[in-house]
Amino acid sequence: MKSPKRLVTAALPYANGPIHIGHLVGYMQADFWVRWNRMTDRDCIYICGDDTHGTPIMMKARELGITPEALIAKAKADHFKDFSDFGIKFDHYSSTHTEENRKLAEEFYIKMRDAGHTVVKPREQLWCNHDKMFLPDRFVKGICPKCGTPDQYGDNCDKCGATYDAADLKSPGCSICGSTPTLKGSETIAFKLSDFREFLREWVPGHAPEEVSNKLAEWIDGELLDWDISRDAPYFGFQIPGTTDKYFYVWLDAPIGYISSSEQWCNTPEGKKAGYSVSDYWLPEDKGGKPAEIYHFIGKDIIKFHLLFWPAMLKTAGRKLPTEVFVNGFLTVNGEKMSKSKGTFISARTYLDHLDPSYLRYYFASKLNAALQDLDLGLEDFVNRVNSDLVGKITNLGSRGAQMLGKRLGGSLATSFDADGDQLLKKKVQPLLPEIAKHYDHRDFAKVLTAVREIADETNKYFDEKAPWNLIKTDEEETRKVLTTTLNAFRLIAISLKPILPDYADKVASLLGEAPYKWSDTQTLLLGKKIGEYQHLATRIEPAKADAMVEATIKENEKVSQARAAAGSQPS
Ligand code: MSP
Ligand code: ZN
Repeated sequence: MKSPKRLVTAALPYANGPIHIGHLVGYMQADFWVRWNRMTDRDCIYICGDDTHGTPIMMKARELGITPEALIAKAKADHFKDFSDFGIKFDHYSSTHTEENRKLAEEFYIKMRDAGHTVVKPREQLWCNHDKMFLPDRFVKGICPKCGTPDQYGDNCDKCGATYDAADLKSPGCSICGSTPTLKGSETIAFKLSDFREFLREWVPGHAPEEVSNKLAEWIDGELLDWDISRDAPYFGFQIPGTTDKYFYVWLDAPIGYISSSEQWCNTPEGKKAGYSVSDYWLPEDKGGKPAEIYHFIGKDIIKFHLLFWPAMLKTAGRKLPTEVFVNGFLTVNGEKMSKSKGTFISARTYLDHLDPSYLRYYFASKLNAALQDLDLGLEDFVNRVNSDLVGKITNLGSRGAQMLGKRLGGSLATSFDADGDQLLKKKVQPLLPEIAKHYDHRDFAKVLTAVREIADETNKYFDEKAPWNLIKTDEEETRKVLTTTLNAFRLIAISLKPILPDYADKVASLLGEAPYKWSDTQTLLLGKKIGEYQHLATRIEPAKADAMVEATIKENEKVSQARAAAGSQPS
């Protein structure tokens, strides 16, 4: 039987800022896994897009003197380019600001409302009379009502960790204009999450990592407060049917973007050729859908949205529920939270201006497993690891093997292995391949790379013992065999690295005169053929380049602060 199709999503990045290296953790991880699925002949698509609605985007557009539509168009193009340049290859990259998404958001809402899962309630909120708008929590600053620390946001205190209502802040100020907001009454539409307590209690444990579902159990057994899904005008988003001045809260239509983006893909020529409609993917089989698995990759800060609200929304709308939600931890740099002033809040573009993207793919993979823990990019460790492992251990095998064979032995592989080489491949290298496959299945990329390094270590040991640079003086045919063994081990390494380093694997395939690799190519060995000319695969990182990247980040940040100060606005 053929395995069901897979639809993989990564969280939709906000359109109000550039992609930074912290974001890349999740998008790369999903990319590795999708590529692995494809390499093993799974039908698997990778769906994403920009998250475009909400007050921050509206305000950012105002600040720049452009329309929100212009802002989100530019952000989408930039984001897509950043991802592509990092080798993150989506089948479709959409936006939540599309007609498809509007229709679906309305459909979801109407089903929620008609099933009695919404309620309209009075709500008092802080209103800025200068800016003529209700202020979201992050747009109010004041003194923490608990510990008295000044300059805290309207939702929680950085110092003491207390959470509170913006209206409880002492001496609140609008973070846009600085004036004092007043309380103003309005109405809000809320989704009654508590209607789904039983369902969530049942559903969550099988569909999220254990640590996450334990955390969620506390919430599910706790209050399960109503969730405000409306925001008052002015707001950049979709107007709620049946209202004149209310908009869907950004988090209502954001995950629906997964479906609308899939829908757009299904209507492209590739999507049509693949043969599934959006309902095939997103309706349960008993409601006309077809077998398909849905996987969401998200960061740990947005689990509530993906594992409480989203399944409840999907259930109400009669949709297919995700097969699993995968959650990644947060990236720190040099052991600390990414920081603008220290130059460690590095944007994807700044990284690309200084360093090769494959290095970061390799490094993140070496640190990623299915667990939730945070991961650290130690810049020195990054340089060392890439230089010693990827360049020193791995690439050198290929370059030394291929160059000697090409220059001294006419580039022809031997027709059989030497006895030790045969043992190396059969006893040390090939047994690790099923392990590698298992680690990929489980998204344990760190273990994949541990196994790959083990192959490289064994092969280097063999290579050094055989000392082909000496052997060639006395026995060319034996040398040819040694190089053939070395290149075969290297080839298996390259195939194993393909989901992480696709360009690298493609270059090795072309060096060895082969078609782009599939996992099944690990079943074969290469003998008796002529190889191509060695092209450079990876070079050492000069530590100065990593320093320059940090310097550039500090400079950009200073420029932004100066421009803000000149425009008279406060940092938000
Ligand atoms: N727009 C929402 C997601 C909507 S999904 C329907 C959002 N956007 S985001 O731009 O803030 O974050 C995008 C993804 O990057 C999220 O999965 C988030 O957890 C992740 N990360 C953001 N900063 C991160 C790190 N420093 N480290 C690892 N992941 C990080 O949330
Ligand atoms: Zn104001």
